Amino acid sequence: MTNAADKGKKAAAEQAVALVEPGMRLGLGTGSTAEIFVKLLGARAKREKLELVCAPTSIRTGELAESVGLKLATLNELGWLDLTVDGADEIDPELRLIKGGGGALLVEKIVAAASNEMVVIADSSKKVERLGAFPLPIEVVKFGWRNTAALIEQTFEEFGCRPVEGQLRMARGAPFLTDEGHYILDYPLESIPDPDELAIFLPTIPGVVDSGLFIDYATRALIGAPDGSVELLVLDEEDED
Ligand code: A5P
Repeated sequence: MTNAADKGKKAAAEQAVALVEPGMRLGLGTGSTAEIFVKLLGARAKREKLELVCAPTSIRTGELAESVGLKLATLNELGWLDLTVDGADEIDPELRLIKGGGGALLVEKIVAAASNEMVVIADSSKKVERLGAFPLPIEVVKFGWRNTAALIEQTFEEFGCRPVEGQLRMARGAPFLTDEGHYILDYPLESIPDPDELAIFLPTIPGVVDSGLFIDYATRALIGAPDGSVELLVLDEEDED
């Protein structure tokens, strides 16, 4: 991570912290940008006695949030959330995202879906014209994962993506396991011609839990530049139709 990227992440996280209001029920994302947000939020919540309750999107975010004094609850306990703030691996002009680089895409999507608003925070390197340069993560159940991978690869060809083989994500010499106990396959597609349709189709493949395509989740994105300025991207509601 470059120093320039760090500055952009921090600038975006600072602006997201300013969006938080007293008493909110918040979803806390996963990844290095979300971690900066959690630390800044913990400090502000303590200073201003904000009385927040937070649902983390991963075990590691939950541990960090507790360590900075934020109150946690499960999503089941909280029901609906006011706001979720999370990072992304890619953001296109329609605020469509690739997420899952940190392996938490499934819980991130469940939490975002339970929120009135999802605000994405990222440094400017995450902004792209077209999704796909970042390898697309797909969470799959362990059973029969090679067959699931073959069906996913067939689907990519049908959707006009280049032929690719999924890489089983590894960690310390063993397959990486998500917090929910699944595997992740990463697909270096280079470019995704129709992310909207692909996002709908992928979870229909037996064995696929979900993909890292987040379509119509983010309503705003705060993009931090190396000079500390922040660009606000807002979802154009007409694009949603
Ligand atoms: C976690 O699973 C991901 O979706 C992260 O939100 C994404 O990888 C962004 O991470 P960074 O903020 O570390 O770039």
